[in-house]
Amino acid sequence: MEYGKVTGKVLDELIAICGTDFVFTSIEVVEDYSHDYTEDLRYYPEVVVKPRTASEISAIMKLCNRERIPATPRGAGTGLSGGALPVFGGILISMERFNKILEIDERNLQATVEPGVINQVFQDAVIEKGLFYPPDPASRGSCFLGGNLAECAGGPKAVKYGVTKDYVLNTEVVLPSGDIIWTGANVLKNSTGYNLTQLLIGSEGTLGIITKIVFRLIPYPTHNLLLLVPFTSAEKACEAVAAVFRAGITPSAMEFMERDAIDYVRKFVDVNLAVADDIKAHLIIEVDGNDMDALFKDCERITEVMNEFGATDVLFAESAQQKAELWKMRRATGEAVKSHSIYKEEDTVVPRAELPALLKGVKDIGAKYGFRSVCYGHAGDGNLHVNIIKEEMSDEDWNTQVPKGIREIFELCVKLGGTISGEHGIGLVQKDYMDVPFSKVQLDLQKGIKTLFDPNHILNPGKMFN
Ligand code: LAC
Ligand code: ZN
Repeated sequence: MEYGKVTGKVLDELIAICGTDFVFTSIEVVEDYSHDYTEDLRYYPEVVVKPRTASEISAIMKLCNRERIPATPRGAGTGLSGGALPVFGGILISMERFNKILEIDERNLQATVEPGVINQVFQDAVIEKGLFYPPDPASRGSCFLGGNLAECAGGPKAVKYGVTKDYVLNTEVVLPSGDIIWTGANVLKNSTGYNLTQLLIGSEGTLGIITKIVFRLIPYPTHNLLLLVPFTSAEKACEAVAAVFRAGITPSAMEFMERDAIDYVRKFVDVNLAVADDIKAHLIIEVDGNDMDALFKDCERITEVMNEFGATDVLFAESAQQKAELWKMRRATGEAVKSHSIYKEEDTVVPRAELPALLKGVKDIGAKYGFRSVCYGHAGDGNLHVNIIKEEMSDEDWNTQVPKGIREIFELCVKLGGTISGEHGIGLVQKDYMDVPFSKVQLDLQKGIKTLFDPNHILNPGKMFN
């Protein structure tokens, strides 16, 4: 596809739409928006714009259609699959000025927000009213809710409370045509027509640009308990995960960290945690609710299950500070690995009870293709983050052997009943593997949807499919 360029005339039009203070071509700004959190990738936009209203975005989309200029929407840039990278240059649309919580409706337990609100800012605002917005990706301190919708972000709480899509009732969206629509209604039940709201969620900024979000909220659980469970075998830790659910308990978090992940993060953030030499993995298990006695009983039962799988030292986080430290450690793991070496982040997901087979398979495949991986993640969801470490590996091996290994890992996921991304999306870096989970018929259906929304392929092109 031949795309149009951002000419002087296009720049003048962008300035007329957004105002001169919100159109940027200086190298410093363009540089800032050339990367997200994905590997060490960089793609430079020709211009960065920071619109403030849906009608400004509508005008930009009309301009892009007329001139065939690619437009890439961007939230906070914390994505891990390259969704916000402007791979064909063009116009980068930053959503950072859409940063208002418009309404917290305590009568209906709903909230209407703009997409540039930071996840944790929103969580804190609703907690003040005794309400809970559970989706909590590791980057919640900086990621935007709009990006969370684009990728259907998860996080530790997903295991009990579900992922982003489970809290979205309705969205206002600017379509690639420039039309502005609402996708649904502000209701908890809706069997009226196709579900455009859920189609937009996880569409990675390829179908439309979300400008308002209506969330449903739930009451905030008043208590929680946190357990740290060291294992001398990583596979045993993975086996213990499904057993907890079979014992009738749904923890509010069930996270896995293998030894290397623990060691990297202990070097990266200041945590007060001694780990014996023979420990190969940790589970971090949280239960929450409104009745402390019930939570203590859950923890007793969890401890019994852990014992059955050979973990005899189940540690309680005693204080709020200890809990915060453990979570800080878990949330910083990705960044800790990244600070150590260039790496590729895979977001594998399988049915929960297949987690031990996935972990073993990942290690075997790594040995076959000559790479080391650091594994951690949302074990209760069967969602294992596999960070493939470059370290001393030659560029040649990195570029030829590793993709073969990744393909084999993804084939294993599908064989085990899973798929290739649980919460990070496909974006740029996984699109070459879309033939692993999907047949041609399935892919053509998805590409047809894209073309229906965006016939000129101007909105976030080069993502999800080739
Ligand atoms: C995490 C991110 C990488 O779970 O999804 O830490
Ligand atoms: Zn994660």
